[in-house]
Amino acid sequence: ALGPLMDTFGRHVTYLRVSVTDRCDFRCVYCMSEHMTFLPKQDLLTLEELDRLCSAFVARGVRKLRLTGGEPLVRRDVMTLFRALSRHLETGRLEELTLTTNGSQLARYAADLAACGVKRVNVSVDTLDPDKFRTVTRWGDLGKVMEGIAAAKAAGIKIKLNAVALRDVNAGEIAGLMEWAHGEGHDLSLIEVMPLGEVGAERVDQYLPLSEVRAGLEARFTLIDSAHRTGGPARYVEVKETGGRLGFITPLTHNFCEGCNRVRVTCTGTLFMCLGQEDAADLRTPLRASPDDAVLQAAIDAAIVRKPKGHDFVIDRTTRIPAVSRHMSTTGG
Ligand code: GTP
Ligand code: 5AD
Ligand code: SF4
Repeated sequence: ALGPLMDTFGRHVTYLRVSVTDRCDFRCVYCMSEHMTFLPKQDLLTLEELDRLCSAFVARGVRKLRLTGGEPLVRRDVMTLFRALSRHLETGRLEELTLTTNGSQLARYAADLAACGVKRVNVSVDTLDPDKFRTVTRWGDLGKVMEGIAAAKAAGIKIKLNAVALRDVNAGEIAGLMEWAHGEGHDLSLIEVMPLGEVGAERVDQYLPLSEVRAGLEARFTLIDSAHRTGGPARYVEVKETGGRLGFITPLTHNFCEGCNRVRVTCTGTLFMCLGQEDAADLRTPLRASPDDAVLQAAIDAAIVRKPKGHDFVIDRTTRIPAVSRHMSTTGG
């Protein structure tokens, strides 16, 4: 029988992040380099193969599926995959089917996503200044993202905003971003920038430790530690003055790997056991080897026991080489 997925540190893998495409219609300065080469289309798993792969994990006790990218909503016919995966919500095997998106196409898909049982969506918004937004995404239109957020809200989907804390971009804006998000009824999570891939900038110039951000916020707001958890790495506080929730994702200042419950699979069927390590397992070959999942399940078992203790991220003046050479857009975070 197929048992739950447990690594050698006793951690249960119950959360699968699936990067359905490495492409994106933005080029965020901390995520990609200006000129990225994307995978040729023939290397991608089909939507049917992605469904089969995800379903193999659901059969092993994965309770939470998050589609990511690149930008998941630029994958052609991605709604077909959402619709297929929503059957696991109906059977109760899956607790949550969701996505992380840049919001650019969300207005178009919000109603369909809601119809597939998507109850929460994470949207990346690093700044509320349209000019800065265009700079940080290299050409993104904040107005479109705002339309997407509004459409998701209108469709009854709960929104969590993600903002990467960036010293050179939004250091002075975080309180404002939080007040706006909370005023709109959205949660906000702040993220420490992680050194994945060469992006043509020094990570040490981008990096803004959340310990510093938190201290700054505490001068103006009352932050009350909260037991709220979403299955992701964020630790939350309730903000007394706004009545909203603020999450901190702190791979650098406060390592959370001990509680890791996640693995990620890419659009080529490569399984990464840790966001901050190079080790990967090819699941495309076993997936295609046989229509029976036994070979695939054996490959998953062999990979899970290799899940490392944690990441090796460091950001300092002397470490110029990224901890991992692939970009965030390969694994979707
Ligand atoms: P929730 O379901 O709302 O908790 O979402 P999430 O935080 O799991 O997912 P999201 O896609 O919004 O990711 C937010 C940030 O957390 C991204 O920058 C991810 O790269 C980062 N993240 C998620 N899982 C891990 C992890 O295991 N390790 C590290 N270092 N970062 C992670
Ligand atoms: N470090 C931290 N967060 C990143 N993201 C993309 N690249 C990085 C990086 N290098 C964020 C996006 C999105 C989430 C999935 O990851 O802004 O919100
Ligand atoms: Fe695209 Fe997301 Fe990377 Fe920005 S962070 S370039 S929106 S994949």
